[in-house]
Amino acid sequence: MRALSNLIMEPPDKFASGGQHSSYSKLQIRSGAIPDVDVLTALNELSFGTDSGESWTADVFAKLIAMPGTDALIALGGEQIVPVGSLVYRVVADECEIITLGVTPEARRNSVATRLLTHMFGHLQAQSVAQIFLEVADDNPTARSFYQALGFAEVAIRPGYYSRPNAARVDARILRKNLASFGY
Ligand SMILES: CC(C)(COP(=O)(O)OP(=O)(O)OC[C@H]1O[C@@H](n2cnc3c(N)ncnc32)[C@H](O)[C@@H]1OP(=O)(O)O)[C@@H](O)C(=O)NCCC(=O)NCCS
Repeated sequence: MRALSNLIMEPPDKFASGGQHSSYSKLQIRSGAIPDVDVLTALNELSFGTDSGESWTADVFAKLIAMPGTDALIALGGEQIVPVGSLVYRVVADECEIITLGVTPEARRNSVATRLLTHMFGHLQAQSVAQIFLEVADDNPTARSFYQALGFAEVAIRPGYYSRPNAARVDARILRKNLASFGY
């Protein structure tokens, strides 16, 4: 897995802290399937870090993708057009749940996550999905800012939902977005 992670990462001296870069303007987004499980796993590990308690194994991704209603999207960008972000979501009836979303640190603040979600919104519109839900950790201000910027609103708190490596418990904030409010 480490070798795959190295393949995905941009050279660290290029975009060390993320930020706007023109090499992301032509981002490509494609669907992910079972053969992409290792890529999804490596992206997840790079995005969340191995110590977060939120990086998942290939086995977890394989089971997720095999579940009915679950889809994965992979974003490719940067100068080498490599995988830089991923999104896994599940649709049940007229509701969607975002299962995981991550962008590699070097690629952040280039609207990769925004474009992954926008791509998903298009798919959801075709399926007449009305609402999107997700859980975000209370100690993840970046993700909370991101979802707020995209119009997600907090609807509930799940106390102590996440466990951290130091055994601390962290609340989950449940966010919701009505698809119509994004202009679809
Ligand atoms: C959260 C995450 C997916 C955002 O990805 P991204 O591609 O950098 O996000 P975008 O560039 O599309 O950001 C869109 C907007 O969100 C907000 N935003 C994104 N990152 C932010 C940050 N670090 N601080 C404040 N606002 C931020 C901004 O309003 C931003 O617009 P701007 O860049 O024009 O100011 C990414 O930081 C990540 O992978 N984090 C680690 C994994 C994670 O937490 N996933 C979500 C779990 S629920």
